[in-house]
Amino acid sequence: MNIVYDQNTQTFHLSNKFVSYVIAVEEDKYLSHYYWGKKIKQVHSPSDYPRKDRAFAPNPDHIQDRHFSLATLPQEYSGTDIGDFRVSSYTYTDITGLRANHLNYHGYSIFNGKKTLQGLPHTYVKSEQEAMTLEIQLIDSNHGMSAFLQYTIFEDHPVVTRSVRFQNNGEEALSIKRAMSMSIDLPDSNYDFIQFPGAWGREREVLRSSLVRGIHTLDSKRGTTSHTYQPFLALVRKDTDEFSGEAYGFHLIYSGEFLGNVEVDSFSQTRVQLGINPEHFEWKLGAGETFQTPEVVMSYSEEGLNGMSRSFHELYQNKLIRGKHQYRERPVLINNWEGTYFNFTEEKILNMAEISAELGIELFVLDDGWFGKRDDDYSSLGDWTVYKNKLPNGLKALSDAIHKKGMKFGLWFEPEMVSEDSDLYRSHPDWCIHTPGIPKSRGRSQLVLDFSRKEVRDNILSQMKAILDEVPIDYIKWDYNRNMTELGSAAPEIMPGEVAHRYILGLYEMLEDLVTTYPDILFESCSGGGGRYDPGMLYYMPQTWTSDNTDAASRLEIQYGTSMMFPISSMGSHVSDVPNHQVNRYSSLEMRGHVAMSGNLGYELDVTKLTEPEKEAVREQISWYKSYRKLIQFGNFYRILSPYDNKQHTAWIFVDQNKETAIYFYYQIIDKANKPSKILKMTGLDSEKTYQLDDGRILGGDELMYRGIYLDPDLSGDYKSRCIVLHSIES
Ligand code: DGJ
Repeated sequence: MNIVYDQNTQTFHLSNKFVSYVIAVEEDKYLSHYYWGKKIKQVHSPSDYPRKDRAFAPNPDHIQDRHFSLATLPQEYSGTDIGDFRVSSYTYTDITGLRANHLNYHGYSIFNGKKTLQGLPHTYVKSEQEAMTLEIQLIDSNHGMSAFLQYTIFEDHPVVTRSVRFQNNGEEALSIKRAMSMSIDLPDSNYDFIQFPGAWGREREVLRSSLVRGIHTLDSKRGTTSHTYQPFLALVRKDTDEFSGEAYGFHLIYSGEFLGNVEVDSFSQTRVQLGINPEHFEWKLGAGETFQTPEVVMSYSEEGLNGMSRSFHELYQNKLIRGKHQYRERPVLINNWEGTYFNFTEEKILNMAEISAELGIELFVLDDGWFGKRDDDYSSLGDWTVYKNKLPNGLKALSDAIHKKGMKFGLWFEPEMVSEDSDLYRSHPDWCIHTPGIPKSRGRSQLVLDFSRKEVRDNILSQMKAILDEVPIDYIKWDYNRNMTELGSAAPEIMPGEVAHRYILGLYEMLEDLVTTYPDILFESCSGGGGRYDPGMLYYMPQTWTSDNTDAASRLEIQYGTSMMFPISSMGSHVSDVPNHQVNRYSSLEMRGHVAMSGNLGYELDVTKLTEPEKEAVREQISWYKSYRKLIQFGNFYRILSPYDNKQHTAWIFVDQNKETAIYFYYQIIDKANKPSKILKMTGLDSEKTYQLDDGRILGGDELMYRGIYLDPDLSGDYKSRCIVLHSIES
């Protein structure tokens, strides 16, 4: 890994054993993008971007040469006002509202390691040898504004991360209206564009389309990342598939409103940007103040989509997720939500716990309905005291009883919300996100608490701490069940354009407090399933509830899409009842198990209603999973067959780091009469090794990967699955 500035070529070259990223300085003033991709040893010549007198392309004031224009130059971080008409990276104004977008190259520094991003989640290094950082300073001397572009390259990852710090060194306040975290102009547009749109119950669908001329946007204006789009996009070559070909992936480490743009310009160049959504954003930057944007992870792979995914999995597992649970095997849990919904008693919970313990389940999670007077979703959010009608002996007694059965105890909270029917709302009706004087929209009959205000956060924090200090709690499910509307605050010091981002900063501050005060608690993030499954939350909470849709067949698509960017250890996946509560489908217990075992296995059903044979099957699933979960949660994961190809089947494989053991899952979604025979090739194995399959067959890694094996012709019926375990043996 190295970063060099070459005076002769006027280029910055960031490289490691996988990738190079090259930036050039043009006319001593502008930063152009020169190269990003497979590692090159050295940059030999200065930027050779073809200069041409393009009609209607303006030339900057001090340059007499009509061949130079920012309208066509591939750039690193440009404003719009001096002739670059593509989507801009930043906009700010002075106090009179005059746009002042003239940031020019000024200087740089290169250092080992990586700075922390104050108040924001970010990738980190444990020693300075793990990464190097380039900080390029841009200056607008008229207004005293600086932007520091931060680029970090890691020793062991095919990844560059970027963010920007604005600093107002002038005497007057400035107003930032747009501050993207990164922008890059790739030299051509011969790509497919992959994005992950979704909705509740259909998170992270995989949408691949040909990249065409124009501006393509994915965003959130919902206060949170939301189900609608993932703050992730990929550009891949036309022939890129799961196993080979170039793939560029971009992911924003942020949990609030975001914007992603891909613009193909008139000259078939492609601009990609990610950052905070400017829609509701306007940040007053007083004299002497700084503003830090969130970070973007940019990955390059020439090993197809699986290669791209592995680079994100490895980076997030090793340099984003933190704390005691980072590498800890995740417990098999039972969650009572689909088993009881709001309708439970202490006796019911203890009965469920009794049977769960017998089945080998390790953690009991008590979901929504244990607090205030919560019998439905119309009341009590904000009142975090135990509901004595349901739990007359209180939470401590329940937790103790569950611990006595040999299980850990987990609890659901939705700390960011308030119900109008709550003591908290009655005492502080102005503590919610709203625009004073404008009627408030409700979502799930609840309002969002104004976490941009410290006193609001402090109130919830102290209510939560009162419980956590009294009750032995091993796990928290942190839920968030609506989008924000009427984004505003009753606190006069919080400007309307700052509310959305200050909310997220406040949330991060509170999470930091909780995860450092209670380092033993395993946190699972949730937002109506996977509505806030983003790398920002992953920095605080090492796992996420992937989706409220627990149907096995639907989960194949959801987990397939989620695996594109998130490590398996972060994915909560539960076996639930049939007919499934979201789509009314029946699928075999085996298939439900095999899908849920491809993540952090849990159960979400009323175990007291299981028949003896079902209990036996569940017992076996759990005991099998425990012996392989380390491999599944922390091994290498490869997608093999996509559920999107023809909705007929899906396959994937988990391989341990030494390629000694592998677990292959095949799922038959829809069966066919008299179906054609099919050979399936495995991937990720060692071609030099010999493997024994658990059906007794012995085959070489090369045979399994290049020739493949026939699919079991006797697997008959819809929603069926097979699992094959492979162990390497002496040949
Ligand atoms: C939404 C979550 O995704 C569910 O798992 C459950 O916790 C409910 N909220 C409870 O209200």
